Amino acid sequence: MATRGQFSSKIGFLLAAAGSAVGLGNIWGFPTQAASNGGAAFLLVYLILAFVLAYPALMAELTIGRYARANVVSALSGLHPSATLKRAGFIVGLCALTVAVLILSFYAIVAGWMLAEFLSPAAQLLQWDSGASWLNAQSFSRNALMCGAMSALTIMIIARGVEQGIEAWSTRLMPALFLILLGMIAYVFTQQGALAGLKAYLIPDLSQLGNPSLILSAMGQAFFSLSLGVGTMLIYGSYLRDTDNLPRMGAAVTLLDTGFAFTAGLLILPAIYVAQTKGVTVFNDAGVLIAGPDLIFQVLPALFATMGAAGNWLALAFFALMSIAALTSAISLLEVPVSVAVERWGLSRPLAALFSGGIIFAISLLVIWQFDALFNGVITLTTVYGQPLLGVALCLFAGWVMHRHQLLKELSNGHPEIESTWFWKLWPFYVKFICPALILITFVQSLR
Ligand code: PHE
Repeated sequence: MATRGQFSSKIGFLLAAAGSAVGLGNIWGFPTQAASNGGAAFLLVYLILAFVLAYPALMAELTIGRYARANVVSALSGLHPSATLKRAGFIVGLCALTVAVLILSFYAIVAGWMLAEFLSPAAQLLQWDSGASWLNAQSFSRNALMCGAMSALTIMIIARGVEQGIEAWSTRLMPALFLILLGMIAYVFTQQGALAGLKAYLIPDLSQLGNPSLILSAMGQAFFSLSLGVGTMLIYGSYLRDTDNLPRMGAAVTLLDTGFAFTAGLLILPAIYVAQTKGVTVFNDAGVLIAGPDLIFQVLPALFATMGAAGNWLALAFFALMSIAALTSAISLLEVPVSVAVERWGLSRPLAALFSGGIIFAISLLVIWQFDALFNGVITLTTVYGQPLLGVALCLFAGWVMHRHQLLKELSNGHPEIESTWFWKLWPFYVKFICPALILITFVQSLR
């Protein structure tokens, strides 16, 4: 068998894993959830859950991945010699694969919208008005074409492999992402109203803390944002070198992801209030902040439109930001089926990328065509049900199916003193009992 790909450096892994984690969930999901759920109260709960629940679950995936050095299906079905556990691992692996495929099918559509909104001000700057308005309006042809373009980019990067594709592109795109974000924050803070937004974001409405729906949304957000449950972190972990310290890498990814979400809040919340100062409607008739797609596709563009020529550049920068964030997450999702096709069916990587990417694009087309019937359903099925339940399953595999000595051996690669650390005293107990129980309790609550 050809040798498996590997990340060439710590920073390469960190940027790739952070590239997967940092996506539309951070720049769009987190700030709007914070805005509608008591500002800093949400931030606080989110940070606690990210470190207390999501980080241990992330460690479960990274550890299984590096131990098994295989895709999610082979990894889970090979952890234990018992036939029943092999079968269980196979089924959970297939479910993770399916959820990854379905998440990518809607994620690529949204990524296509971002690309369209990016190209539209570009067309305007080139004075191509008819192009700009075609790009700006929802239509089957626009959505299909833009989703196709994003899918093609994703396929091309994944076809090039771990080091030349995933690592090389994450290393280029992630710093660009951060610079655009900082530049935009600096600009928005020169505008009137920004401080009011900052206050709304950072002064907590503590009365919200006991609100169960806030805790639920924060958990869902933390799981989606850290790309958990679908085998993306597992496969990235499987490309980590033995000399890298797993608990530290996982902590760094969690910090980068939450840090990025926090920083994105410093852009979106002030921007909403600047828009309000400029007369853009930001609260709906019921007095609730406009969130979701309307925020991104109406409120922010309306804000940019009040800013004249600078507004065009801002729109360009903002949607470049969104497109890049979406692309580095999309590649991690495509790597899940591609690694299965390469390692289990023996396909060459470019063929596997084309084949898996093609099937996913066909599903996206179906969703675009039957948008009202399918779009929200696929999102709910995968992110509300799929991710948390698979998160529980992965914790159970790390905690119960892998033996303590296997875990210890894997974790001491790159970290020989692990046995004397707090991490080792707490984590095995944590993934065995606390994480699955807490995720399940929160999940069951959400169904009531
Ligand atoms: N974490 C990504 C985001 O925040 C989404 C994602 C989910 C990526 C699951 C991979 C796997 O947008």
